[in-house]
Amino acid sequence: MEDYIALAKKLRVDALEDLKKVADEKELESFYVTYLAKKGSIPGLMVHMREVQDKSAFGQEVNATRNEVSAAYEEKKADFGAKALEKKLEAERIDITLPGSPLGVGHINPYRLIIDEVTDIFLEMGYEVCEGRDVETDRFNFELLNVPKDHPSRDMQDTFYFGDDYLLRTQTSAAQAHKMSEMEEKRPIRMIAPGKAYRRDDDDMTHSHQFAQIEGLVVDKGISIAHLKATLELFAKKMFGQKREIRLRSSYFPFTEPSVEVDVSCFNCGGKGCPMCKGTGWIEILGAGMVNPRVLEACGYDPEIYSGFAFGVGVERVAMLRYHITDIRRFYQNDFRFLKSFPAK
Ligand code: DAH
Repeated sequence: MEDYIALAKKLRVDALEDLKKVADEKELESFYVTYLAKKGSIPGLMVHMREVQDKSAFGQEVNATRNEVSAAYEEKKADFGAKALEKKLEAERIDITLPGSPLGVGHINPYRLIIDEVTDIFLEMGYEVCEGRDVETDRFNFELLNVPKDHPSRDMQDTFYFGDDYLLRTQTSAAQAHKMSEMEEKRPIRMIAPGKAYRRDDDDMTHSHQFAQIEGLVVDKGISIAHLKATLELFAKKMFGQKREIRLRSSYFPFTEPSVEVDVSCFNCGGKGCPMCKGTGWIEILGAGMVNPRVLEACGYDPEIYSGFAFGVGVERVAMLRYHITDIRRFYQNDFRFLKSFPAK
């Protein structure tokens, strides 16, 4: 009788020897079919079970053969898998050390930088920032601010109208009228409203048909011109340096009474006189005044109880002084060479 146990042993040795020669996944597949699949030669050994005497010893030998060959097969298969992955990774390799294409960094228009700076200063003082609107009605832009239809100051603000009632606002002061009128309970107000204003102007070095302003308004009981002066002095020092002083010159605005122009001591020469301050030592930075009682009344505040002050800063003017810009039109030409000279945020 044939020695089936020896046959199983030989098969094991042959199989392992063959497996060593397997060079790729395809050959591995046919190895599996030859030795390990249902009809392969190792499971096929079991047909001899009937003939062997020591069935247990034979069974154990067949099992051991199957286990060992299977394990070696699995190991080789995993090895091929890892190699294939490695090959794929190698083929798809990206060289991350190559320098990337540079991303363009945006730059902030200098008038925006000034708005941000002024906003920060007033936020620190507890002001809220209100959003005005660019398209206004005649009522908010003029009437409520004590500029009736026939008022001569309208001439200076010849503007862009849409029909009789709507216009591009000529001043951010319109935001004051909104704020006061829209307060349901007439409570104290401390606000700034930065934004654009528009006037029909022939554009030149110092005039632009669009420009930015920052409006300020404080309304409360017992507000006096001392509050106005102290506030604007603090603002001037924070904006232009601790050594700055301000001076108030009498002026006229329909919505304030009294009205003032505010000058700051020249931050270029310290007040001695230079081309920037045209030799005067002072630079005009804003218009201001005590809110006209007529405006308070028109917007629903009782002028017997409430008083307030207001101011309007010309943003481009401040930006031109700060950054030595000589032509106001540059703010709106979107010339990247110009914008690039200001910090990116
Ligand atoms: N609206 C004025 C202008 O466009 C600026 C201004 C002056 C605003 C005095 C104010 C103010 O609130 O009190 O020239």
